[in-house]
Amino acid sequence: FSLKAYNTFGVDAKARYFAAVNSVEELIKTLKFSNAQELPHLFLGGGSNILFTEDFQGLAIQLDLKGISEEFSNENQVLVTAQAGENWHEFVLFCLNKNYGGLENLSLIPGNVGTSPMQNIGAYGTEIKDVFVSCKVLNLETLKVETFDLEKCRFGYRDSIFKQEGKGKFVILEVTFKLTRENHVIKTEYGAIKTELENLGIEKPTIQDISKAVINIRQSKLPNPKVLGNAGSFFKNPTVPLAQFEDLKLKFENIQGYPNGNFVKVPAGWLIEQCGWKGKQIGNVASHKLQSLVIINATGHATGKEIFDFSTMIIESVKEKFGIELEREVNII
Ligand code: EPU
Repeated sequence: FSLKAYNTFGVDAKARYFAAVNSVEELIKTLKFSNAQELPHLFLGGGSNILFTEDFQGLAIQLDLKGISEEFSNENQVLVTAQAGENWHEFVLFCLNKNYGGLENLSLIPGNVGTSPMQNIGAYGTEIKDVFVSCKVLNLETLKVETFDLEKCRFGYRDSIFKQEGKGKFVILEVTFKLTRENHVIKTEYGAIKTELENLGIEKPTIQDISKAVINIRQSKLPNPKVLGNAGSFFKNPTVPLAQFEDLKLKFENIQGYPNGNFVKVPAGWLIEQCGWKGKQIGNVASHKLQSLVIINATGHATGKEIFDFSTMIIESVKEKFGIELEREVNII
């Protein structure tokens, strides 16, 4: 079964078996079957953060759980719950249509609702942890449904319990967010949003305006995965100790950094660009010409192995020039 349509890199890897499930009962039945057959399994969400470097000799399970429900919790707050298989951006638009605020800065992020807590998706000054209430998960060992609240998810920058000790142990079924019904908190502190609102001539932005600005920024520099296969940022922005950053600053006076306590977060895109990778293509793979942190399937024919090897070359050259070890953000299978 080809997984090409199930990963935004558009890599033509194969899975031995495939099943799409649209209810929790069906999911449990499918898991009981694969456990009995001793088949390894793998979950597919929106496929926007995954790289297949080889074929998968097991059962790929597409989580097709759909549905959105709402509950007013007080005058200014609504709890909105979306099933894992809902497309993220369509869910954001659903909320904006109802004038529910909180997700507008996260417009146009590829992927599904169910994978959003995995890496605490974030962009333009917001992370889902800011509006997250809880998620329901299936415990893969007990096949029982459990609820994880904010604290239990242990969200960090592109991180959560689901990437750490909970890795491979749970599958996310639905996510509940707390959104505002009025008195929205408008977040414009991210430089690019301010500039885009000025370009649009908007002085007092609504949540819908913020979404429009974010969509414009993303469309202007991030490649559309439907046109050019990619998985967004391929690496995380690395954090280095303050002392190391000061040393680097002596050697590279243009280096950028966002201080955070005794550490400084350095934009990986800048490091990669300085190593000469921006827009560079080797075989079927390239670093995007407008955002070097994004690796693209330039010809549409790249294999996962080629993309992985390209990323290794980037890691090595950044390490050599700056002494910083980039970490991949994309899940490698
Ligand atoms: N930069 C360069 N060269 C490049 C790319 C970026 O010098 O090729 C510099 C920019 O000039 C800017 C800085 O790096 O000063 C930061 O760039 P940008 O605002 O584009 O954000 P980013 O740090 O590269 C992160 C997220 C994105 C998210 C944006 C906006 C990570 C790994 N990536 O990128 O998330 O959309 O901020 O908030 O944190 C994703 O995770 O897939 C993703 C796209």
